Amino acid sequence: MTKVQTIPVQDYTIQVGDIFPALNTFLKTKEDQAVVVIVDKNTKKHCLPILKKQLNRKDIIVLRIPAGELHKNIQTCQSIWQQMMDKGLNRNALCINLGGGVIGDMGGFCASTYKRGIDFIQIPTTLLSQVDASIGGKLGIDFNHVKNSVGVFQNPKAVFIDPIFLKTLPKLEIRSGFAEIIKHSLIEDAKQWKKIKTIKNWKKVDWPAFLVPSLHIKKRIVEIDPFEKGLRKALNFGHTIGHAVESQYLESKKPLLHGEAVAIGMVCESYISHKMSGLAAKDLKEITKFLVRIYGKYKLLKKDYSAMIRLMRKDKKNEKDEINFTLLKAPGKCLVNQSADVSLITESLDYYRALK
Ligand SMILES: NC(=O)c1ccc[n+]([C@@H]2O[C@H](COP(=O)([O-])OP(=O)(O)OC[C@H]3O[C@@H](n4cnc5c(N)ncnc54)[C@H](O)[C@@H]3O)[C@@H](O)[C@H]2O)c1
Ligand SMILES: [Zn+2]
Repeated sequence: MTKVQTIPVQDYTIQVGDIFPALNTFLKTKEDQAVVVIVDKNTKKHCLPILKKQLNRKDIIVLRIPAGELHKNIQTCQSIWQQMMDKGLNRNALCINLGGGVIGDMGGFCASTYKRGIDFIQIPTTLLSQVDASIGGKLGIDFNHVKNSVGVFQNPKAVFIDPIFLKTLPKLEIRSGFAEIIKHSLIEDAKQWKKIKTIKNWKKVDWPAFLVPSLHIKKRIVEIDPFEKGLRKALNFGHTIGHAVESQYLESKKPLLHGEAVAIGMVCESYISHKMSGLAAKDLKEITKFLVRIYGKYKLLKKDYSAMIRLMRKDKKNEKDEINFTLLKAPGKCLVNQSADVSLITESLDYYRALK
């Protein structure tokens, strides 16, 4: 992909493709600003050399933090703020977040709060962050092991998405990000779902062809509902059960990547959709078959159901005592703020467990 596509979102733009000419032009307008780039071990090794080679500016300051969700916390923020202070950054500085969703969320949060906020841009380097985390303005960290419980809404100055970074991303991370692309199509774009379900080998997919339509779906949703008062909850499809499964098995011998858990969640929530919101049996069958073909079958244990349901009750998207779902009416059409009772949720977990 050489051509760059520009997607305007609210007050910033997303560039997708060979981003470097556009990035250099952008940085030219910031010549008098100090530029810091936040990386972790992996993006320092795989992504920073690409960035440095392509940038006209050679005086960027590199801040390194540990990789992974485990470090998306206040201690790492302190280290980022400390390094920013040590380097003498003032309010005029620009921060580049070069990494996956962890760096995007936490780097953006640190930038938004350092000296009451400095400019930042996102250069997402995982499939998940390219289609999901880098847009929509949600920034933050985990606190006391509760995911994303401290943070702010703040838009970046720009987002630059280049598929070149996906070349070094482990295959399982690619498959995990793919779940969000599938989700976007199921909630908003029946045509895109039609294309996706014909994918035979996910390892050979031309991702740029799927990135742009997926970004358009997220853009539409966040523009209508930036602060998640209503429609934005559509993005929660597969996530009520998915998050519970992810948390439940986080410390097990076989933890799941986010997208793997969301795939299980999408199967179960499609089942609930079939029972509650009119999703046709044929669509349920197709969605299930596709997701199990791509993600395989994970061993959910019946003894863990009650703990998972407890986790679902704690979801911050719930209203009153009910467990909140986004359900499908059909592929490409969804309903937000639906509540299902525990017996139906249990039935949906049984449905998943009984699959071959
Ligand atoms: N803000 C939002 O709207 C939003 C939406 C979805 C998810 N998120 C957040 O995103 C985070 C998950 O993001 P993620 O899946 O990108 O995880 P991540 O940032 O932990 O990246 C996954 C792994 O890939 C490595 N990596 C990154 N780019 C690489 C590359 N190009 N080559 C090789 N290795 C590379 C990272 O170092 C890390 O080890 C979660 O914290 C989640 O809460 C935020
Ligand atoms: Zn997700």
